[in-house]
Amino acid sequence: MNMWIALVLATLAVGASAQSCSCDTMKWATCEGTAPQCTCHILVGSNEKQTLKCSDLIPKCFLMKAEMYRAKKGLDTRTIGGKPTEDAFVNNDGIYDPDCETNGKFRAKQCNNTEECWCVNSAGVRRTDKGDKTLVCDKLVETYWVRLQLKHKEMTGAMDASKLKLAITDAINKRYKNFKKDMVDNVEYDKDSRTIVVDVKKPKGDTESNLANMAYYMEKDVKVLPLFKDQGKFEPMVDNKKLEMEDILVYYVDAEPPTFTMKNLSGGIIAVIVVVVLAVLAGLAVLFFARRRQNQRYNKAQQREMEAM
Ligand SMILES: *[C@@H]1O[C@H](CO)[C@@H](O)[C@H](O)[C@H]1NC(C)=O
Repeated sequence: MNMWIALVLATLAVGASAQSCSCDTMKWATCEGTAPQCTCHILVGSNEKQTLKCSDLIPKCFLMKAEMYRAKKGLDTRTIGGKPTEDAFVNNDGIYDPDCETNGKFRAKQCNNTEECWCVNSAGVRRTDKGDKTLVCDKLVETYWVRLQLKHKEMTGAMDASKLKLAITDAINKRYKNFKKDMVDNVEYDKDSRTIVVDVKKPKGDTESNLANMAYYMEKDVKVLPLFKDQGKFEPMVDNKKLEMEDILVYYVDAEPPTFTMKNLSGGIIAVIVVVVLAVLAGLAVLFFARRRQNQRYNKAQQREMEAM
């Protein structure tokens, strides 16, 4: 009798798992079929479906495409908008509609459906000045190092910072689909500013692991809402205490330094320089005229003295 009950329960369990056809790593995915033949996709354009491999993080290029499409359609997509080396840079451009390879990698040259083009790194972040359609990007330069600069929320009681690296490494590994632990290179902590700096590096030449996908999922986890189906938070456990994050800044370091020039540096800086130069010129002019008037007065006084004599 017990055997029969066990058998019925087992059958039910198999049936239930066969029916659950969903995408762990993408909350906007649509899935069809049952377990072994379950296929999932997201819309990245009108009638343009991108098939997804939901056992891995979804490539950032596909995610950005889907986000641009959703933003255009007015669907829910809440998007938001020191350096590890001299050559590190942040993403100042925000999101665009990227061109992806079929495997989800970014094409080296991106134009955002406009006449203006630029070259990106493997994280899809612009690393050159913008140019016109004739711009040449001869290869996709690999981002081999990302610095995740996290700020955690206020905690009650002290935290044992010596356990931080292990906690962060474990949390990243578990949450981001078995992300390789040995790539979490260095973790630093500043208690006063509640800043945690996590350096994630991969061996040069490793084109398989993708730092950008992990960093993008984490950015969404901290700044907006998780991209995962399960909306649980990114919360490393330090000494059985949850460490909640409130902000993140990502720096990218590429295998080759970026080639931005002064031209695009910043209109703001140029404006400041112009204002300073004008102020100095005005100051000099005031000095000059004040001197001249003084000299004139002196001369007149001298003249009067002479006349008196
Ligand atoms: C890409 O184009 C969209 C509109 O088509 C615009 O809102 C966005 O700022 C552009 N992004 C970049 C990085 O140029």
